[in-house]
Amino acid sequence: MASCSCSSFSCTRGPSVLLVCLLATAAFMVANAGNFNQDIDITWGDGRAKILNDGQLLTLTLDKASGSGFQSKNEYLFGKIDMQLKLVSGNSAGTVTAYYLSSQGTNHDEIDFEFLGNLTGEPYILHTNVFSQGKGNREQQFHLWFDPTADFHTYSILWNPQRIIFSVDGRPIREFKNSESIGVPYPKSQAMRIYSSLWNADDWATRGGLVKTDWTHAPFTATYQNFNADACVWSSGASSCSSQSTTSASANNAAWLSQELDSTDLERMKWVQNNYMIYNYCMDIKRFPQGLPSECAIASIS
Ligand SMILES: *[C@@H]1O[C@H](CO)[C@@H](O)[C@H](O)[C@H]1NC(C)=O
Repeated sequence: MASCSCSSFSCTRGPSVLLVCLLATAAFMVANAGNFNQDIDITWGDGRAKILNDGQLLTLTLDKASGSGFQSKNEYLFGKIDMQLKLVSGNSAGTVTAYYLSSQGTNHDEIDFEFLGNLTGEPYILHTNVFSQGKGNREQQFHLWFDPTADFHTYSILWNPQRIIFSVDGRPIREFKNSESIGVPYPKSQAMRIYSSLWNADDWATRGGLVKTDWTHAPFTATYQNFNADACVWSSGASSCSSQSTTSASANNAAWLSQELDSTDLERMKWVQNNYMIYNYCMDIKRFPQGLPSECAIASIS
């Protein structure tokens, strides 16, 4: 095990620094794969969300009366979380499938994927955002290079103390770096749950609200499988990653905790950003007349 001295961190931040040190040195107990019966609570929708096939599959549906949603039983403080989704097919205009991590309370942290539906044959928008301590306004949006309704694809959030990486089928599409050194709050001390929901947002989702949900196509269905969380479970104020008691886990299992993008990853991300990015807040000078948010100065690619 690598040793971790607090001298390599700023020690002025107290307990959270200690936590990072613990995380960096401890044996890892990671929460792992994939049974919805064990890992997920259906939270709303009055029967419209279903866990099927002994916990291997989950469906959310939306009809005119209601959408539906679920959340993870566990809270996590850092992790690499993968989920495979097959989105609402056909005419999905007006619908939004949200899949995100969020803490609770007022100054909350949040890491978002939202899939905005569209007319048959027209592209979905994958909308991403990062909130730290209650502040968001960090949207980046993409079209996808495949039809996300034809098959399952893997949508991943890697969240460690240095960076957040959004990936699609293992290809990074966005990186949000820890920019605390220039005064930008970073999500690192509030545990987050996974949430997902399918709901009607036809006041804004499709072409800015121009295209409304066509209820003759209801119910709309999104399907989930292969949930995997390599993550530090947060429970009663303690992280599973600081537990010394585990036998099977090795430091290998936790490569994600210090993972960064190498030059190949950066090239692959650039390909997405050059060809499929349709909105980047860091380019939206009109929206930020007082100057772009500080973290935009050190974005990996923009
Ligand atoms: C829907 O299709 C239009 C036209 O192709 C496109 O401009 C838009 O980005 C698509 N997605 C959404 C969610 O509006």
